[in-house]
Amino acid sequence: MAEAIIFVLILGTIIVVILYSFNIAWLAPEWIVGFLFLLIAPGLYAAFTSGPFVPSARKRHKTMLKLAELTDSDVVYDLGCGDGRLVFSASKLAGRACGYDLSIPLVVYGKFLSLFHPRAEIQFGNIWTQNYDDATVIFCYLLPGAMKQFHKEVWPKLKKGTRVISNAFEIHELKPFKKEDKVYLYLV
Ligand SMILES: C[S@@+](CC[C@H](N)C(=O)[O-])C[C@H]1O[C@@H](n2cnc3c(N)ncnc32)[C@H](O)[C@@H]1O
Repeated sequence: MAEAIIFVLILGTIIVVILYSFNIAWLAPEWIVGFLFLLIAPGLYAAFTSGPFVPSARKRHKTMLKLAELTDSDVVYDLGCGDGRLVFSASKLAGRACGYDLSIPLVVYGKFLSLFHPRAEIQFGNIWTQNYDDATVIFCYLLPGAMKQFHKEVWPKLKKGTRVISNAFEIHELKPFKKEDKVYLYLV
């Protein structure tokens, strides 16, 4: 979240400097504030409903990848990918890795970084309305309420054998196949 706010502030400053240097200062500050608010509104909605942007800690990030045991034939989704760092790490080991997020600044930043990761994809989108038919691995780092929603809405549609790896928060309705360092692995 802090990184998103910093990003928006930097972006806002750049926009204001450009507007003033092209002498289009007629654009009232309240329009600029309104524009910036629209920019962060979807991310705020996501943060309050399913989880704010807090990247998985370095050690947990490694544990998630270890438990996933990724190979070239894997198709990975990160549900709420933030700045995409887990997607980029996964894309080096899997056939394809895709992350969805609703935070516009983070998605723009992630899309830029994905230029350097050919097997990674960062998409703007709501995790609850996507299609995960081809998923073999799903990563989550979402609040307990969102994990409940995941179990109810996403889990029944996943194909048999899909590995679901959740950082920090369990799916209370299920027994994990493995647990390490507060990272939970479930098998569909
Ligand atoms: C705790 S962060 C996890 C970041 C990353 N997966 C990781 O492990 O480092 C949760 C992310 O989920 C995103 N998010 C929450 N609800 C979402 C939704 N409904 N659709 C898309 N993204 C969502 C937030 O914007 C935030 O970036």
